[in-house]
Amino acid sequence: MNSVQQLQATVDALAAKGKGILAADESSPTIAKRFDAIGVESTEEHRRAYRSLLFSTPGLGEFISGVILFEETLSQRDDRGVPLPELLIKQGIVPGIKVDKGKIPLDGGEPGDEITVGLDGLAERLDRYKEQGAQFAKWRDVYTISECTPSSLAIDENARVLACYARICQQAGLVPIVEPEVLMDGDHSIETCAKVTEAVQHAVFQALVKEGVSLEHMLLKPNMIVPGKDCAKQMTSEQIAHETVQVLRRTVPAAVPSIHFLSGGLSDEASTRYLNAMNQIGPHPWELSFSYGRALQHPALIAWQGDAANAKQMQAALYKRAKLNGMARYGLYSPDME
Ligand code: 13P
Repeated sequence: MNSVQQLQATVDALAAKGKGILAADESSPTIAKRFDAIGVESTEEHRRAYRSLLFSTPGLGEFISGVILFEETLSQRDDRGVPLPELLIKQGIVPGIKVDKGKIPLDGGEPGDEITVGLDGLAERLDRYKEQGAQFAKWRDVYTISECTPSSLAIDENARVLACYARICQQAGLVPIVEPEVLMDGDHSIETCAKVTEAVQHAVFQALVKEGVSLEHMLLKPNMIVPGKDCAKQMTSEQIAHETVQVLRRTVPAAVPSIHFLSGGLSDEASTRYLNAMNQIGPHPWELSFSYGRALQHPALIAWQGDAANAKQMQAALYKRAKLNGMARYGLYSPDME
């Protein structure tokens, strides 16, 4: 396979009908926060045990096309000594890797503006990750909504960096997931979220085109268009679906094969309902899918409680959420399936 065929094969596998991506790439501080909520210490062994159980869920590959891993996980093994990326491949799941190095305050920006870092040495790291089994990558930019953020500098700089990352990935033969996340934190309206997200997506696609990124061989991971967490006026699933699809139609070229939403702090059920509502108002020029972290893992984490004796219940909880989101890919989910 030449490298374009290889990228195409990865895109086709990740965008498969009825499936989506599991984000299990929490950085060390983030996984520590999740474990802390169930009273489990975040040691390397606990992280290995937890993620081995997630990935060995029987039948996971029916609804999960890819899993995004954190660097540490790439070299971990399950209890029988099978490398975790290999365990995923055996399930028919494509392993991927988060490659950004997190965010820092943006020089010259407004207070609250941030920039994601990690381009230095990225090409060399990608070669190593590829040898360890990764076939796609993820990079996340973050935008906070406030009176003065995100500034136009933050929008432009993050877009530029995201586009550089995407180009370097494609050159290395890995499919880039491009993730610009407008956070839900705050009391802003759904209209503000739509306006900011539209500006961010415009800048991202302008930068991607300028960098010469092949739109056919990337995936987009955006936020949905929702009111801020503390906004008094909440919305129906149908309104959220309408607003989200409208912003995407204005900004995302039809050449992009598939859009995989993040859950961003939405509840498990809301994430499924909103995706379902969007797929009910199709057809769309792209697949509308998921790449959830919390919304897929939350019930599994609660069931696990750090105890291997709870493995069956934990895996059943993950399987159920994966299956319901698989139904939402066709617009066939209904809340009574919960
Ligand atoms: P959430 O679905 O929990 O937002 O995580 C997705 C993700 O990968 C964030 O980078």
